[in-house]
Amino acid sequence: MSTAPLPANADPTPGPNHVAIIMDGNGRWAKARGLPRVAGHRRGADAVRRVVRGAGELGIPVLTLFAFSTENWTRPADEVNDLMGLLRHYLRNELDELRRNGARLRVIGNREGLASDIVRDISDAESLTRGNSRIDVNICINYGARAEILQAIRSLARQVEAGELSSDRIDEDRFESALLTSGVPDPDLLIRTSGEQRISNFMLWQCAYAELVFVDTLWPDFGKEHLEQAIAEFRRRERRYGGVGG
Ligand code: IPE
Ligand code: IPE
Ligand code: MG
Repeated sequence: MSTAPLPANADPTPGPNHVAIIMDGNGRWAKARGLPRVAGHRRGADAVRRVVRGAGELGIPVLTLFAFSTENWTRPADEVNDLMGLLRHYLRNELDELRRNGARLRVIGNREGLASDIVRDISDAESLTRGNSRIDVNICINYGARAEILQAIRSLARQVEAGELSSDRIDEDRFESALLTSGVPDPDLLIRTSGEQRISNFMLWQCAYAELVFVDTLWPDFGKEHLEQAIAEFRRRERRYGGVGG
C-alpha cells in the first residue's frame, strides 16, 4: 500500500461510507512473541476498541469487523473456547465504551450455532446501543458469505413455493433484503490485515465493487493511523463500476 500523501489538488472520491475489516494476524502476532495464540486474540480485542473509537472520530458512518467465520469452528476446541470467552467479555464490558462512541452495534452471522448466553448477550448489546447514531458497528460472528447466500435463496424459494412471490420479481433489491446484511449499505472499502490477500468467504455479494486494501500490519498492531492510511489509499482510487472512468 502506498503511504504517499494525497496531492493538494486531488479530487478525492468521497467516503468511504462503509469500511469493512477482515481482522487477521492475531496468531502470528502472538507467535512472534513466543506467546499463546489467545494472547494475540486479547490484544486483537484492544485493537477493536481503538479502531471503533478511531472510526467514530474519522466520521465513518458504518464499520464492519469480521471476528469469527463459519470456518473458524475447525480450529482447536481450546482456541474456539478462548475466542467465545473474549466475545462474551466484549459484549458485557464494552457497552459503556460503545455508548461513549455513539456506536450502534449489530451482530451479523448465524446465531443458531452460538451458545445461548452469547445469543442473549448479543440481543442485549444490540438493544442497549440501538439509540446511538454516530456510527454503526457491525461485528460478524459465525458469519460465512456462502451460508448467508444459501439461506437467502432458501427463504426466497419458500416464498415462491408458498405462492407469495413470483420468481421474476427476484431482483437485486429483493435478494439483498433476504441477506443478513439487509439494510446495511455495501462496503466500499475492504481492508485485510496481516498481509494475506484473500476474501475468506466474507460478504461475497456485498463486496462486488468494494475497493480492496491489503496491509501487512498484524491486527493487534492496527490503529487509527492505519485506518487513515487505508482511507487515503481508497480516496486515490478511481472507481469505475464497469464504465470507462474520467
Ligand atoms: C484473526 O487472527 C482472528 C480470527 C480469525 C478469529 P488469526 O487467529 O487468524 O491469526 P493468524 O492468521 O493465525 O495469524
Ligand atoms: C478470516 O481469517 C476470518 C476472520 C478474520 C474472522 P482466517 O484467518 O480465518 O482466514 P484464512 O483461514 O487465513 O483464510
Ligand atoms: Mg488468520
